[in-house]
Amino acid sequence: MKGVILAGGSGSRLQPATLVVSKQLLPVSDKPMIYYPLSVLMLAGIRDILIISTPDHLPLFRRLLGDGSRLGLRIDYAAQAEPRGLADAFLVGADHIGDDSVALVLGDNIFHGYSFSELLETAVADVQGCVLFGYPVTDPERYGVGEVDAAGRLLSIEEKPSRPRSNRAITGLYFYDNDVVDIARSLAPSPRGELEITDVNLAYLARGQATLVDLGRGFVWLDAGTPEALLAAGQYVRTIEERQGVRIACIEEIALRKGFIDADTCHRLGAEIANSSYGQYVMAIAKELVQ
Ligand code: G1P
Repeated sequence: MKGVILAGGSGSRLQPATLVVSKQLLPVSDKPMIYYPLSVLMLAGIRDILIISTPDHLPLFRRLLGDGSRLGLRIDYAAQAEPRGLADAFLVGADHIGDDSVALVLGDNIFHGYSFSELLETAVADVQGCVLFGYPVTDPERYGVGEVDAAGRLLSIEEKPSRPRSNRAITGLYFYDNDVVDIARSLAPSPRGELEITDVNLAYLARGQATLVDLGRGFVWLDAGTPEALLAAGQYVRTIEERQGVRIACIEEIALRKGFIDADTCHRLGAEIANSSYGQYVMAIAKELVQ
């Protein structure tokens, strides 16, 4: 399975913080925002990843993550000149996806939960149609919303409905089989001129091939698209990290635990930024796992 991180857009709700910096490079607590969605793909075992951003910001992501080999990954980059909607990722990324299945994750979505890696690996192992993740929120009108019946079957999906049929937001993590490229190609732009991800999901729903997995209570899903949400996400991450002494979305640690890199490499990556507590954590993890 291939991975795609969508890290474009103008981040207008975060201006002026995003006037010269990409939203997905702003810090969430101690690390750039893109580490969080990148860690989700890594936890799913996905190592071949495309990052889509604006022509202006793409060089910054490249400087940060390179070709991915330091983390045992392969990272490619593609430019999206104008925001043409989330589903445009499948047109921009068509070559990268090839004839494979694909996981799309939005660059400002933050996931954290027990056994997340296992849940993701299960979803990856058997993608027929699309797999969506639902999360209960108090403000579903801000999101794509899924409605399910008593048996958990998906009945409807609506994008930012003024009267939501449920409180289940559809998160910014999507797994698709290879048909997604053709489906995206066949979409007409929405009234706001964009290729909507919800229209892709509706196409799968019409075929009876859309599944909604519930990320229920006890799981954390945050987006970081407004100043308030960004601060709240940073506070959440800091609270957990301080309390437990673990780091959320530490990509070097995940690469090591997944066997993508060895402990020496991990230690070296930490040593490069040894002046920061993040770097010290990476070095400590490398030492701990070698014993
Ligand atoms: C997008 C999707 C929406 C989804 C949300 C998740 O909305 O269109 O269906 O629930 O991401 O973050 P946006 O944040 O682009 O408004």
